[in-house]
This record gives sequence, C-alpha cells and structure tokens, in this order.
Amino acid sequence: MSPGKPSILVTGGAGYIGSHAVLALKRAGYDVVVLDNLVYGHRDLVEKVLQVELIVGDTGDRGLLDHLFATHNIAAVMHFSAYAYVGESVADPAKYYHNNVLGTLTLLEAMLAASIKKFVFSSTCATYGIPEVVPITEDHPQNPINPYGATKLMVERILSDFDAAYDFKSVRFRYFNAAGADPNGKLGEDHNPETHLIPLVLLTALGKRESISIFGTDYPTPDGTCIRDYIHVSDLADAHILGLEYLLNGGSSEVFNLGNGNGFSVREVIETASHVTGRDIKILECDRRPGDPPVLIGSSDKARKILNWQPQYSSIKEIVSHAWQWHQKRHE
Ligand SMILES: NC(=O)c1ccc[n+]([C@@H]2O[C@H](COP(=O)([O-])OP(=O)(O)OC[C@H]3O[C@@H](n4cnc5c(N)ncnc54)[C@H](O)[C@@H]3O)[C@@H](O)[C@H]2O)c1
Repeated sequence: MSPGKPSILVTGGAGYIGSHAVLALKRAGYDVVVLDNLVYGHRDLVEKVLQVELIVGDTGDRGLLDHLFATHNIAAVMHFSAYAYVGESVADPAKYYHNNVLGTLTLLEAMLAASIKKFVFSSTCATYGIPEVVPITEDHPQNPINPYGATKLMVERILSDFDAAYDFKSVRFRYFNAAGADPNGKLGEDHNPETHLIPLVLLTALGKRESISIFGTDYPTPDGTCIRDYIHVSDLADAHILGLEYLLNGGSSEVFNLGNGNGFSVREVIETASHVTGRDIKILECDRRPGDPPVLIGSSDKARKILNWQPQYSSIKEIVSHAWQWHQKRHE
C-alpha cells in the first residue's frame, strides 16, 4: 500500500468505465483491487495494462466478499458492476433486478459487516426517465421508464436508507453517455454487444459494420435527430477520484450528475466521426424508437461546485478522436 493512501475495491473494474477509474486511482497513488466476474469485462486490461490485482468473482457471492474484506485493507468501494442494456432489461427484468439490486445489496451488507462505509456508485440519467426540463439537474423527478433505470433508482434509495440507519456514506453519480477513451490510448470501450453510438459509428468506419442507423430524423431539433450529452470517460474517472476523496475526508452522502452540459445530435456525431476517421460512414435512416426523448442534457454544475470537478475534454471532436485511436488499435 502506498504511504497514506488506502486500498480501494473497484467492482466492474474490467469494464469500460471501471477500468478508466482504476487508471485514475493508480495515478492518484491508490492501491486498487478489482472484483469482476468477467461476464463483460476484459482480463487483459486489468492484468496486463493496469497491472492491479484481479479477483474473478461476483458481487452476489457473500462468502467471497467476506473473505475479500477480511484479507484486504479496503477503505472504500467504487461500484461499477451492473448489467446496463436497456432493451435486455425490458425483455428480462429478473436478470437486471437480480444483478443490479440483489448483487449490490449483498455487497453493501458485506461492507457493513466489515465496517466499510464509504461507497461510490454508478447511477444513471436513466433514473430520470423522460425529462420535464433540460438541462436536467439533480432535483429533477426520477421516473425511470425501463427496468434498468428502475434498478439504479432502487439502489439509490437503498443507499439513502443505509445512510439514515447505519451512517453509510455514498456518492451517487448519475452519468449521462460515457464516451471516448483514455487519451494515451491504453484503454477504451469494448462492449459486446455494443449499443452505444460512438463505438458503433467507429466500427462502421472500420468496416466491421455495414452501416449506422439513425432512429428518427423528424425530432424537434435543429437537424431532426436526437441530441444527447456525451461525457468523456477520463473526465468521469477523475470525478470518481474527487467523489472518493470527498467521502474519505468525511463528506456527507451526495448525488451528482456527470455530463458534458453540451448536447450533440446523432448527425453531428456521425459527421465528426467521418471527419476524424477520413472514412465514409454509410447511414441508414430508420423510424423513431419508442421512449427516446428528443433532447437529453444534464447539468453538472453541482459536481463542479462541490467537488471542484473540471472536465478536460468536452468537445465532441476530442471525444471521438480518442475513441478512434483506441478502436484502431483494438480492432485493426
Ligand atoms: N456506459 C455508460 O454510458 C453508462 C451510463 C450510465 C451509467 N452507467 C453505469 O456505469 C457502470 C459501468 O458501465 P460500463 O459501460 O463500464 O459497463 P461494462 O459492462 O463495460 O462494465 C461492467 C463490468 O461489471 C462486470 N460485472 C457485471 N455484473 C457483475 C457482478 N455481479 N459481479 C462482478 N462483476 C460484474 C462486467 O463483467 C463488466 O466488466 C454500470 O453500472 C452502468 O450501469 C454506464
């Protein structure tokens, strides 16, 4: 353990956002232990690139967690592990409630038993549902429209109750669309299946996909396509260090949006990708999908003010360029 810095358990640290958080933790001098069942994570990123301890296991495994907490000096947990496919959560909600709610509750109970009471949680803008106003602030009503969002809201409620009853302190980060990749090219996004716009566009540029679909071109937006808030994954990771240190310094439980504050339309993202890659990207215009609001943008003023979070990469060109650098390395 580095002098003065405790060990941090990162669940889901072999996944996209978790791996970037591990890199940021290492840079900040923390010892890190990753717990990931590798259902979606990548062993090579943890063992070869990040070179931290990987425990292959499940957050629902209470015996494993008790052993982990008994054998490691863990001061806090960053909890990224979850299932996060909205469509699948509608088709198979049991899978989502089981992993995202029950798996998290088991982890929280094991933490309580080990007297570890600091927790950074990956929540989502999907807990808000259809926005009543944009930009969305943290006090916007939470009415999720799919089981995925509902599972995250349930955990947020569990965390509030744990604070009231057990003095269990948490920072709940509601992310907008995580995007981009480590600017030094060490890490990036590698979901399988992939459902996020930027990697899908780049996989199309690489010739791994035929075309990119635009769902709806008649929305009330300047170019008719949906506008979303893309936040660079390294900026997200930095916010996690600030959230962690806020808790380690005795901060009270808080919820923060993490977004860019600027929205970019689907067409803008595709045009930026054509420009960055210098390749033709075939577009397929399709009907709207049910439940897609025209504009989803978050306000992150609270995180900037309370955590002094200062995102570095807010232009869509930087986000797409970093993602492209990673995708070329990973897939060509
Ligand atoms: N990617 C986004 O844009 C986005 C937006 C909002 C919220 N989030 C949330 O952020 C978190 C990370 O998202 P991501 O995109 O990095 O996903 P990811 O799938 O890349 O990473 C999740 C990791 O958790 C692991 N995992 C899943 N269930 C587990 C379990 N029960 N025990 C141990 N490991 C388990 C997977 O193997 C994977 O490595 C998730 O909680 C997600 O809901 C992501």
